[in-house]
Amino acid sequence: MQKILNFGSLNIDHVFTVDHFVQPGETMAALGLSLLPGGKGLNQSVALARAGAEVYHAGKVGANGTSLVSLLQKDGVHTEWIDRTGSTTGMAVIQVDRTGQNCILVSRGANGEMTGAQIDAVLSSFGRGDLLLLQNEVNLVSRMIDKAAARGMTIALNLSPIDESLGHGPLEKVSYFLLNELEGESLTGEKQPDRICEALLTRCPKAKIVLTLGKKGVLYRDQNARFAHGVYRVPVVDTTGAGDTFTGFFLASVIGGCSVEESLKLASAASSLAISRKGAADAIPTLQEVKNAHLEMQL
Ligand code: RIB
Repeated sequence: MQKILNFGSLNIDHVFTVDHFVQPGETMAALGLSLLPGGKGLNQSVALARAGAEVYHAGKVGANGTSLVSLLQKDGVHTEWIDRTGSTTGMAVIQVDRTGQNCILVSRGANGEMTGAQIDAVLSSFGRGDLLLLQNEVNLVSRMIDKAAARGMTIALNLSPIDESLGHGPLEKVSYFLLNELEGESLTGEKQPDRICEALLTRCPKAKIVLTLGKKGVLYRDQNARFAHGVYRVPVVDTTGAGDTFTGFFLASVIGGCSVEESLKLASAASSLAISRKGAADAIPTLQEVKNAHLEMQL
């Protein structure tokens, strides 16, 4: 059976509820503070698991990261490949304003301490046909892509948070790209969604591209197909982790044998439910919750 390995970040999110994002030079009292599990890697493993996939998480935490590992275990994620000897667990400072929008500052900590030996040890348990999911919150992403491709693994890359190093990486070895418009523009220099996809397909002709468009929904492109899906109408409480929820549900669904169109629909519904709740990992719904939800499309 195909295994999913997610080699990704684990963070402790310090979530400040604010009226508005703090401005340069401004000191402002927050309306509330919560410490919550997060990290794009952890969130995507939780989403995969809650969508029904069998997932192995690899990464690194410090001594203060035990609760993150326990949370993954509670969701049925395999955690034997999480190294607990990191300096200090990754941390994010997140402001969530009264409209539910967020801005995020990340300190990598242990997420920036992956080693070649760790990558080799983890990948030795996976092979042809297994899926490797990556984001850009850990170090050595290009090396992971090269090594996994050499083992015949299928690679899915969420280009978040984007930086220059990704564009220089071995992207032609990636099968699934999951990115938003800003990341697409940064990678290709194009602004218009179809042009972003076309520029990426020129470089990586065999790729399957999932481009999320915020309130405009999502666009899927590959060499032969184009699908779009809108967003559902929900009260927006906190948008943190919406993209992670989408990524996990989309991949779990496609790997589970559903069509791209069905998978876009499921992932859109799951991420809509996630933004109607507070937090990142804590807000991710289960497959049953998504199936039971009666959501209306936003016109
Ligand atoms: O995508 C949301 C995540 O980004 C947060 O959980 C935070 O930890 C940052 O990694």
